[in-house]
Amino acid sequence: METKPRVLLTGATGFVGGRLLRVLSKEGIPTRSIVRTIERYPKELIDRSGVEIAQGDLLDRVSVQQAMDSMEIAFYLVHSMGGRSISHYRTYIERDLKAAENFVKAADAMGLKRIIYLGGLGEMGDNLSAHLSSRQVVGQILQSGQVKTTVLRAANIIGAGGAPFEMLRHLAERLPVLVCPRWVDTRCQPIAVENVLEYLVGCLFQPATAGLTLDIGGPDIITYRDLLNIYARMRGLRRLVIAVPLMNPVLSSYWINLVTPVPAGIVMPLVEGLKNEVICRDKRILELVPIRLLSMKEAICNALAELEQFSGKPISRQACFLA
Ligand SMILES: NC(=O)c1ccc[n+]([C@@H]2O[C@H](COP(=O)([O-])OP(=O)(O)OC[C@H]3O[C@@H](n4cnc5c(N)ncnc54)[C@H](OP(=O)(O)O)[C@@H]3O)[C@@H](O)[C@H]2O)c1
Repeated sequence: METKPRVLLTGATGFVGGRLLRVLSKEGIPTRSIVRTIERYPKELIDRSGVEIAQGDLLDRVSVQQAMDSMEIAFYLVHSMGGRSISHYRTYIERDLKAAENFVKAADAMGLKRIIYLGGLGEMGDNLSAHLSSRQVVGQILQSGQVKTTVLRAANIIGAGGAPFEMLRHLAERLPVLVCPRWVDTRCQPIAVENVLEYLVGCLFQPATAGLTLDIGGPDIITYRDLLNIYARMRGLRRLVIAVPLMNPVLSSYWINLVTPVPAGIVMPLVEGLKNEVICRDKRILELVPIRLLSMKEAICNALAELEQFSGKPISRQACFLA
């Protein structure tokens, strides 16, 4: 029988972590979540056997170290973007780096066996945006310790409640004509949130992934224009997408912030990153953790079905929507 590792989960109050927590609980994998905003922790899981909460903040190393006591494998599903004010958003990189440094020092001190980090695609030096660069640097910091760290690199994750899908949905639903900057024709390789969860759990049970940096993506390599068109077709909407080369990313962040519920603190860094191609270069994950990849049509269909089933309230959503 497969032994179940004791898992420390970060980001349990967020979009990916909230879903992963439900999967781990369903699989009976003993999990402790380090949570700083208890109000966002899924209420139905409070007091569930095998699922613990440790109050803490990744910016406070002592609380992280305490939460790691007797844990074996940690999921690192945290970023520091968010907030409604531009000044708050500008300091997210410092917080990202501090949190990762604290985590790796605590992991070394507590003798953790492995870390699994979900970061972002994009190549350093390719005029990479500040947000995507920060995701790479966090991976390097986590891999700099003694604990073997798997870095999974993903482009946009498509699922109800996640910022990429909510931006797509609100823009396509509300605007018959979308005037976008050049980034609308950048290529990307988005992935369904269901597949991300399968990869995260797959890495937990596949020791050969320890210490590796692996790219994960869906089967479709498409542009953001294609993504808007797929969504519109599935919803039976007629939409016109026009690229205006001179429109700058700051201006487009402002109008996306107005039209969608996604706060400025996350729109700005995400939109800045849309100029960068985010496509898998490394394909090892396909053999290490073989799964059926969902097309973008299937991913969007699942997200819409979830919103319908839960009356517009996704089972987990981007933490910073509440900031
Ligand atoms: N969503 C995507 O499309 C996407 C794409 C590629 C990669 N990723 C990666 O996936 C991971 C998870 O992203 P997500 O979309 O699930 O983000 P999210 O919904 O915004 O959740 C972020 C989580 O991080 C927690 N957090 C932030 N700072 C913290 C701190 N100092 N101490 C403790 N917890 C802290 C938040 O807790 P609070 O509730 O207390 O704020 C929240 O639970 C990130 O590493 C991200 O880069 C996401």
